[in-house]
Amino acid sequence: MTLVEDKFEEVKVVGRGTRIGLRDGRWYSVKTGELFGRRKGSGGKVVDQGGGKVSGGGVSGSGVSGKKVKRTREEVIAESARLENFPEMWLGIKPYEWQKKVLAELDLKETRVALKAANGSGKTSVCAAAAVLWHMMRFPESLVVCTAGVWRQVEDQLWPCLRKFASGLGEGWTVHNAEIRYGNGARAIGFSTSDPGKFEGWHRQGPSENLMMVLDEGKTIPDSIFEAVERCQPSRILLMSSPGGTQGAFYRAFTKEAHLWKTFSVDASMCPHIPESWVKEQIEKWGEQHPLVRSMVYGEFMELGNESLVLSYNVLQNCLSNPPEEMKGGKVAFCDFAAGGDENVLAVKEGNRVHPLVCWKERDTMSAVGRFIVEFKRHNLRAHEIFADAGGLGIPMCDALAEAGWTVNRVNNGERPRDTEAYANRGAELWFTAARAVEMCEVVIPQDDVLFSQLTTRKCKTNSRGRLSLESKDELRLRGVDSPDRGDAFVGAVSCGMDMQSFNRHVVRPSVLNEFTSYVEGQASYSGLDKGFRCE
Ligand SMILES: Nc1ncnc2c1ncn2[C@@H]1O[C@H](COP(=O)(O)OP(=O)(O)O)[C@@H](O)[C@H]1O
Ligand SMILES: [Mg+2]
Repeated sequence: MTLVEDKFEEVKVVGRGTRIGLRDGRWYSVKTGELFGRRKGSGGKVVDQGGGKVSGGGVSGSGVSGKKVKRTREEVIAESARLENFPEMWLGIKPYEWQKKVLAELDLKETRVALKAANGSGKTSVCAAAAVLWHMMRFPESLVVCTAGVWRQVEDQLWPCLRKFASGLGEGWTVHNAEIRYGNGARAIGFSTSDPGKFEGWHRQGPSENLMMVLDEGKTIPDSIFEAVERCQPSRILLMSSPGGTQGAFYRAFTKEAHLWKTFSVDASMCPHIPESWVKEQIEKWGEQHPLVRSMVYGEFMELGNESLVLSYNVLQNCLSNPPEEMKGGKVAFCDFAAGGDENVLAVKEGNRVHPLVCWKERDTMSAVGRFIVEFKRHNLRAHEIFADAGGLGIPMCDALAEAGWTVNRVNNGERPRDTEAYANRGAELWFTAARAVEMCEVVIPQDDVLFSQLTTRKCKTNSRGRLSLESKDELRLRGVDSPDRGDAFVGAVSCGMDMQSFNRHVVRPSVLNEFTSYVEGQASYSGLDKGFRCE
């Protein structure tokens, strides 16, 4: 079957996705070729052939919209061949307005479409899947090359959709692991971007000279692949992704190189299948302004430019002006040990209140250990309530405390975070967790200008794997900012405490987040991803 089968003047979908074709004023099942509407037991009499008779050069039919409109035969044929109509007419999916616009643009030859959209919005299963199958049916002997930053995204997401939809498109389809063939000689292949050297040599094919490139999760596709794509001179490019950081070819397609693309941006509110409750939950959990929320809900790039602070002054000020009611509760303390001329700091949180920080300078490490013990006793702390920075100099300090009978919990900022998808290391996780508690006005913060300034000068960024990380102490020093010892101690007391209490914000996370940060190394597990709204 070709897109508009030569045998039929018009094809439309009725009932539960049954396609029927109009020929000589009668409707036939496209699949079986039999007259449509033959009622069981009606003795073979054809009933209800509906409107749609060709009469005087005009065709009346229900068309895609279901409205009765008068069109010429040529118009009908043209309409059913258009990509924006393909999902509804051929796949039985009613595309959203934005999906139609994206597809309408991609219908045109020599087009480059860039789409950035929230997670799970329907990029792969509607836009990419429709485009691939349409291209194959529309252009005999043509080629589609599909790739994604991580091969498994093609394998686990695009290919199952193509397989499912192709199985409903009648005869002539052969679906292999990384290749689909159609009876008209058209092919679609899946290509891994891990070997840019081999990503060459594709060219426009078939009588109509068509080559389409589908680049899914483009934020993870290396620049070298984009260069190879350019060399192939495709007739159409569909570049899609949920947005990531502010670098790479995908980002440039929306900024510096936007004039080369037709760009589309989509947020979760434009996708009715994404439950509002899920959106609310994300905002509740991470905060409206959190870079992850900006990306996965609002479809925005994670603008972690120069001015991106873990905690802004306004947010801190708001918490200071609107402190929570004090609640009694357990104690959590955090020790930040001084290196060189820095400060030793002990932060003690009791219930939801952080006591005034205990800070002092002390060059002799052993004396510092003694002073920490004095402070522990003064605050009636027990060893299990105490957390301590165990990176670098912290190791001998913790050892010395242990020798003195204080086996405290060791925290190494460089170590693996609990949430490996979102954060580069434990230090970033502690800072972001505390920042969120401040944003939610959940802590009573001691009056301490040095602490305030340290909390509101630490910048964040994404590391090479797209996870959130902190500006390093060396980077801070380079711009003349002291080591934020008080900030570290405060953040440690607030966040380590949350681990101990039944604070579930960081325990229950949606699987959709996996996709967000797992892309670069491609090692994430995709099982269960996008639960509830993914293509089966
Ligand atoms: N037009 C639509 N109508 C109904 N459901 C849709 C539509 N578009 C997308 N979806 C739903 O969204 C799910 C996720 O789509 P998917 O293509 O995997 O998202 P993305 O690639 O953008 O992350 C699909 O399985 C489907 O259930
Ligand atoms: Mg996808």
